[in-house]
Amino acid sequence: MAFSPQFLDEIRARVPLADVIGKRVRLARRGRELTGLCPFHNEKTPSFTVSEDKGFFHCFGCGAHGDVIGFVMRDEGFGFPEAVERLADQAGLELPKQSPAERARERAQISLYGILEAATAWYEQQLKADAGRAARAYLVGRALTPESVQTFRLGFAPERRDGLKAALAGEDISEALMVTAGLLIEPDGGGQSYDRFRGRIIFPIADRRGRVIAFGGRALGDTQPKYLNSPDTPLFHKGTVLYGLDLARPAAREARRVVTVEGYMDVIALHQAGIAEAVAPLGTALTELQIEELWRLAPEPILCFDGDAAGERAAARAVERALPRLRADRSLRFATLPDGEDPDSLIGTGGVQAMEDVLLDAGPLSSRLWRLAGGEGGLETPERRAAVNRRLLAHIERIPDKDLRFYFQRHYRNRLYEGPAQPQMRTTRTTRTTRTERTAHTTQAARRRADDAPERVMRHQALGRDPAGTSIQRERTLLQTVLNFPGLLPEFFEELGHLELATARYRALHGVLMEMAASERVANKADVNYGLTQGGFEKLLDELVGQDARYLDWASREEKAGSEDARVQLRHVLDLHRRLVGLKGFKKEAEEAFAAEPTEANEQRLIRAIEELHAMRGTEAEVPGYGDEEKRPAG
Ligand code: UTP
Ligand code: MN
Repeated sequence: MAFSPQFLDEIRARVPLADVIGKRVRLARRGRELTGLCPFHNEKTPSFTVSEDKGFFHCFGCGAHGDVIGFVMRDEGFGFPEAVERLADQAGLELPKQSPAERARERAQISLYGILEAATAWYEQQLKADAGRAARAYLVGRALTPESVQTFRLGFAPERRDGLKAALAGEDISEALMVTAGLLIEPDGGGQSYDRFRGRIIFPIADRRGRVIAFGGRALGDTQPKYLNSPDTPLFHKGTVLYGLDLARPAAREARRVVTVEGYMDVIALHQAGIAEAVAPLGTALTELQIEELWRLAPEPILCFDGDAAGERAAARAVERALPRLRADRSLRFATLPDGEDPDSLIGTGGVQAMEDVLLDAGPLSSRLWRLAGGEGGLETPERRAAVNRRLLAHIERIPDKDLRFYFQRHYRNRLYEGPAQPQMRTTRTTRTTRTERTAHTTQAARRRADDAPERVMRHQALGRDPAGTSIQRERTLLQTVLNFPGLLPEFFEELGHLELATARYRALHGVLMEMAASERVANKADVNYGLTQGGFEKLLDELVGQDARYLDWASREEKAGSEDARVQLRHVLDLHRRLVGLKGFKKEAEEAFAAEPTEANEQRLIRAIEELHAMRGTEAEVPGYGDEEKRPAG
């Protein structure tokens, strides 16, 4: 229904924002505003504010923002019209008049809801009656408790052509409406309509408010199809509904988690095991709408698929559909079940702990995409590496958020880079450890050459400290300089954004810092400190630029250097960093080539790379202060 702006304003005027929010959040007054702990993300210090004057709430921590309608939408997981209805109801306002066509449609829908409710009640009753004896036994056999049967309103459709039809006719419901509701089948060639569901356990499918809109029916034995669902009707559109959503919603908000499984029985088994935040699509791949629905419940819904080929395909489709909608705060996680198990069977054999283990193991979307692009198939050759890279890029292009796209690119660039070098070097070492025994038996000169080569390379490696050892110092200096002189950020934004830091702790801070720089939230040092503290980097920040921070170079230090010195310093270190990264890439390639094919040419190439890196270390030593304690400029 379309609401007029006047009507919406009336609602905003009549339902005070602070009242609505005050029911969910403990608010304290601070000046003209109210503050409290944000209900939309986890926090310990309040960054959620309510401005009664402006009629808006805003969270400085997670960015949640909106008016009273927006609050109800977020808080209850409602759509816009539902939130408006809820508030209108609270304000005692009549919903605005509809056009006759709208009214007719709504009336028809209202009566359809009534019909489905009547059908649900009848199916429930049949399960309890004599006719339901076998069905009850079946449910016991599947370890469903009476509470679950009641909560999910399970029922039974007896093996008759006019069971439900006769029952509903007795309640003055027309046959035409029963057909529209999807409960009866009209034979193509004419003739009597008859019950769609016969001899099946009935799973009522509810909308997000808990109103039944369709049914799924499971055969008791091996009858095909195993499950039969209602057809699409004015109330039911398969791709927009998630089974169990109405029950999962409160639990999902509490647990800040939502789990998507494949089947009805899986949802119920999870719920019964205490994981109530579970939903399922209706026998199809997740649609965009369903993914959006999941995002209303948790930032990273867990999709739990079977370990088989079909599960793999379902995950692939979900990735495809999520990519164009991905944001920094909206992604997916993928959990993989042991082969041949579904959540229902897993809980049956391993208990809820086995299920929780699977959920804890869920990997991020980026890993799943990596796998889809063949990243796990091996990156032994440049050709394969290039092919994986091409496939990844084709996917990443579909991410609309520029920042996020950038981080995906960087993530995969690192991964492609790191790929096989480690395991291959390990192979080399293994060869070396078994060398003694092998040389005792072999007289083949070629064999010995290959075996000895790694030793020669290692001697070269040992010439000096591994240059990687100094990268942490270099990276520290880079970060210290920009943290103390954020004014340099715009000028070096591009270059800093493309930096590939080797130190994991620094990498995270660098990522957030660049995000802040991208949204221009870093005018001065106070902004930077605030943003990074909010991002949980308080400790690292203190370590880098706090009172007792250690500096390798005076130019990175605020009270000692002017920004011109800092600029020169940053330029220098960035150049050095880039040259080193390039050289390390060269060395890595040489290592791989050598590990794959220990020829003399490859050995020479590797030795050259190592020597060049050592030469670079010499350059690094020329940067003021590198490798020593802090040096002060003379005078
Ligand atoms: P499964 O075949 O995995 O069934 O279908 P299940 O959920 O494990 O059911 P049980 O444990 O054998 O009772 C997964 C989902 O696919 C849909 C249903 O929604 C089902 O829950 N489905 C399956 C159909 O719609 N029709 C079918 O014939 C089979
Ligand atoms: Mn099953």
